[in-house]
Amino acid sequence: MTEPSLFQEITDFGSRANPWPLYEKLRSQPVWLEADGSFVVSTFREIYALLHDPRISSDPANLLPEFADKAGPLAQAGSNLPPSFIRTDPPRHDTLRRIAMRQFGPPHRPDRVDKLTPLLEDVVTKLIDGLADRQQCDLVDDVAYPFPVAAITGLLGVPPEDEPRFSQWVGPIVDSTGKDSPEVAQQRADAFQQLGMYMFQLAQSKRANPGDDMLSGFVTDDGPDGRLEGGDLFSALILLLIAGHETTVNLIANGWLTLLRHPEALERLRTEPDYAVRMVEELLRYEGSVHFLPNRTAVADIEIGGTTIRKGHPIVLVLASGNRDTECIPHADRFDPDRADNVHLAFGNGVHYCFGAPLARLEAQLALTQLAKRLQNPRLVSDPPPYRPSPVLRGPIHLPIAYDGVLPN
Ligand code: HEM
Repeated sequence: MTEPSLFQEITDFGSRANPWPLYEKLRSQPVWLEADGSFVVSTFREIYALLHDPRISSDPANLLPEFADKAGPLAQAGSNLPPSFIRTDPPRHDTLRRIAMRQFGPPHRPDRVDKLTPLLEDVVTKLIDGLADRQQCDLVDDVAYPFPVAAITGLLGVPPEDEPRFSQWVGPIVDSTGKDSPEVAQQRADAFQQLGMYMFQLAQSKRANPGDDMLSGFVTDDGPDGRLEGGDLFSALILLLIAGHETTVNLIANGWLTLLRHPEALERLRTEPDYAVRMVEELLRYEGSVHFLPNRTAVADIEIGGTTIRKGHPIVLVLASGNRDTECIPHADRFDPDRADNVHLAFGNGVHYCFGAPLARLEAQLALTQLAKRLQNPRLVSDPPPYRPSPVLRGPIHLPIAYDGVLPN
């Protein structure tokens, strides 16, 4: 136990540029009880164990009534829809996830991500072509933000002309500071509703005219578990849109920042074709974008790390701290894409392990490799850059860079 809270210091935006010394202090104790009744878990071993423990729930209904405000931004904003599968527990979670996975990966659609590759290459090529008429840009606004929008909308079959509207809705939903005023909370609820209405109309048009996209699969294909119907469909779609967007924006921005701070890695990315895979994996560990998972609840008392996590209390799993835990990860504070057995928590673990991990990896590999190959003499304009005001996601809100020119692809 501590007073004042180290965890509050970490979620304070002043520490965003360099939270690592605070995380190191946090790991002096695996589990902390906060003054508000939340349990904060900081070490790799304990986070991993809890992610596989059936006594922790992702369903906010299991919180004691006094913790109702800890249900998290997605739960509050979407309170008129059934919870998406990220906010449910097995066995219901597993059924909903299986239906969604049927349209995304093996064995039914092993080709889904591969088929997206040419579209993604084309999108990132055009975005980088667009930098050629100047010698400075904001890597977030100009590349990192629009690229994942194009990927997730391409995956689902959202027409490209609708992307700007879509981005407008996603921003307020995900960019919660956790301490929103009633006005901001209302804006978020409105955005959520508009996105839901938009997806409803799109689903109807796909039913009438199915294409080779994921949404068409959702509304026309009955697998062994049936279809996602009504509110479950919209909850799943909104989850995919949100979960697949800002996380990847931050990974690409954190990645480019890390590469500019490690010129030897940038040089290898330019010249070694296989380097991107290892480099992105290390990036996920070293500068991953989801810093903590705020949405777990104990459904029984759990003895762990010398503490008893009490039933009905919120649990916060600090993934980014676990990823720098030197007890489990050798020289965890060093960016080392050549490390062997790179095990990390960037995509979570257990039943809720990130659904979109193959797509996120591909997007980061494509974007960072093209940037490395094409931008001539790229450099940071300011270091550290300003960080976005989200407690859960960590990444620059803007990343101004300068360069001497852009080579053709
Ligand atoms: C779940 C991280 C990209 C879809 C998760 C979780 C994490 C995560 C940590 C676990 C949440 C939990 O346990 O409560 C990331 C990161 C990404 C990324 C760091 C990019 C760098 C994507 C993409 C998609 C996606 C591109 C969509 C195509 C999902 C979904 C879940 C999820 C649907 C919920 C899975 C479930 O509850 O079974 N992600 N994600 N994510 N992610 Fe991702």
